[in-house]
Amino acid sequence: MDVSKAIKDRRSIKNYKSKDVPLKDILECIDAAHYAPSSGNLQNWKFIIIKDHETKQKLAENCLEQLWMCEAPALIVICSDRDCIESYYEQHKNIFSIQNCALAAQNFMLRAHSLKLGTCFVSGFSKMQIKRILKIDEGVEPEAIITLGYPSEKPISKRHHIETCTFFETYGNRRADKSLFPLSKHVKSVKNLFSKFKKN
Ligand SMILES: Cc1cc2nc3c(=O)[nH]c(=O)nc-3n(C[C@H](O)[C@H](O)[C@H](O)COP(=O)(O)O)c2cc1C
Repeated sequence: MDVSKAIKDRRSIKNYKSKDVPLKDILECIDAAHYAPSSGNLQNWKFIIIKDHETKQKLAENCLEQLWMCEAPALIVICSDRDCIESYYEQHKNIFSIQNCALAAQNFMLRAHSLKLGTCFVSGFSKMQIKRILKIDEGVEPEAIITLGYPSEKPISKRHHIETCTFFETYGNRRADKSLFPLSKHVKSVKNLFSKFKKN
């Protein structure tokens, strides 16, 4: 699947068919995840595959009672080995841990989408409870739970216009060249946008 199509078509899925996900597809997604960039290439991520219903129930209850998560045939808990990061980047261990795992999660979700699987990123949980349920070692933190399964819904995309999040040279500056706007007309030809911008 084309990368742009995968990025734009992926949606968070919260309704799943009961059909199981083959292990080989889960491993494909983990493989994609572990190709993500990471600080110092430390690759500090760990992936726990959860299929047991009782464990899924306990995790969902500890994710602010989001019981819809149990419907997904698999949950993937992405953990960060923070001790590993700390030995290289003491001050930045928390932020690098989260950033590395977030990038891995996005790779995971895009690969899943390309395999016609749905996902949803969930991180509203008590780390202590998740660690207890999954017997996660000291020095390792759960950073995200990804629900995984075949979608039984097709949510629509809601995105702001790129004008609202794009500035030129300094924060807040949208005054480049009025003819550039709306910026979305350049999305398929980013080269034109920049050649025009350089002239001003
Ligand atoms: C850090 C983070 C935490 C999230 N936590 C939850 C969550 O707890 N429950 C949920 O249903 N969706 C969660 N989501 C998914 C977002 O709600 C979803 O990505 C957003 O609404 C945009 O929808 P889309 O993914 O379909 O484009 C989370 C996403 C991120 C990035």
